[in-house]
Amino acid sequence: MLNVESLAVQYGTADAINGISLTIDPGRVTALLGNNGAGKTTLLRTLSGTISMHGGQAVRGSVRLEGRDLLRTPPDRIVRAGLAQVPEGRRVFASLTVEENLHAGGLSVKSRKDIERSMAEVLEMFPILRERSAQSAGLLSGGEQQMLAIGRALMSTPKVLLLDEPSLGIAPMVAKEIAATVRTIADSGVAVLLVEQNTRLALGIADQVYAIDGGTIAAEGPAADFADSELLRRLSLGGGTRARTDPGSAMRQGGKTSHD
Ligand SMILES: Nc1ncnc2c1ncn2[C@@H]1O[C@H](COP(=O)(O)OP(=O)(O)O)[C@@H](O)[C@H]1O
Ligand SMILES: [Mg+2]
Repeated sequence: MLNVESLAVQYGTADAINGISLTIDPGRVTALLGNNGAGKTTLLRTLSGTISMHGGQAVRGSVRLEGRDLLRTPPDRIVRAGLAQVPEGRRVFASLTVEENLHAGGLSVKSRKDIERSMAEVLEMFPILRERSAQSAGLLSGGEQQMLAIGRALMSTPKVLLLDEPSLGIAPMVAKEIAATVRTIADSGVAVLLVEQNTRLALGIADQVYAIDGGTIAAEGPAADFADSELLRRLSLGGGTRARTDPGSAMRQGGKTSHD
C-alpha cells in the first residue's frame, strides 16, 4: 500500500535519512523502532509531506501510496489521498474544545454529514472524549490528549495512519490502553506505522518491525523475531556500539548499526 524506496532526506546539507526502503500494509501494525535522533520523525514528516516545514527535503528515492508519488504531493492532498499523521508531542489545539479539535480533523476531507458520522465512530472508540467533548483540549491529561490527537487523525478516515511516539510522557496503563486501540485500528484494515522508543509496548501489538539507526534500516522482520533480540536491547538502551550477535535468522541485517 505504502512503499518507500531508497529514500534519503537532508536538513540543509546534513543527512538525516540515508537510503531507507520499507513497505506498510493494510491491516498491519508496522513498528519503527530506534533511538533518539535515528531519523524516525524525519521519515514520518517526509511521508506526510511536512518535511519542508521543518527545513528538510527528500534528496533521493520515492514514496508511493497505492502507486501515487507522495514526494510531489502537498500535505493537504496527502491527507485526502488517505494518509494521516499523529505528530510527535500530540499537538492538539489547546484552546479549542475536544469536539472542535475532532471536527478540524475532518474539515478538509469531508462533508458535514460524513464528519458527524466519523465523529460518532471516534467517540465510540474513545468514550472519555465523549465525556470531555465540550472541554478545552488544553485541560485534558496527556493520555486524553493523545487519544484526541489519534481521534483527530481518524476523522479523515485514513488508509494509512502514522503515529509518532504515542506513549511518550503518558502513564503506562494509559499507554497500554492506547496501544490496544491502535491494534484495533489496524485490525479494521488501516495500515499503521507506529514509531516507538518503548520497544516492549510496540512489540506487543506489531506485526512487522523495522529498527532504524543513524538514518538506515539496521534490521527488519516479523515482530516475533525481535522479542529477545540483542540488537533491540542495545537500541533501547541507547548504546552506540555495534551489535555483536545476530538479532535473528529471519531478519535481514544491513547497513551500519552505529552512528555516534
Ligand atoms: N528541523 C530540523 N532541522 C535540522 N536537523 C534536524 C531537524 N529535525 C531533526 N533533525 C536532525 O535529524 C536527525 C534525525 O532526527 P529525528 O528524525 O527527529 O530523529 P528521531 O525522531 O528518530 O528521534 C537528528 O540528527 C536530528 O538532530
Ligand atoms: Mg522523533
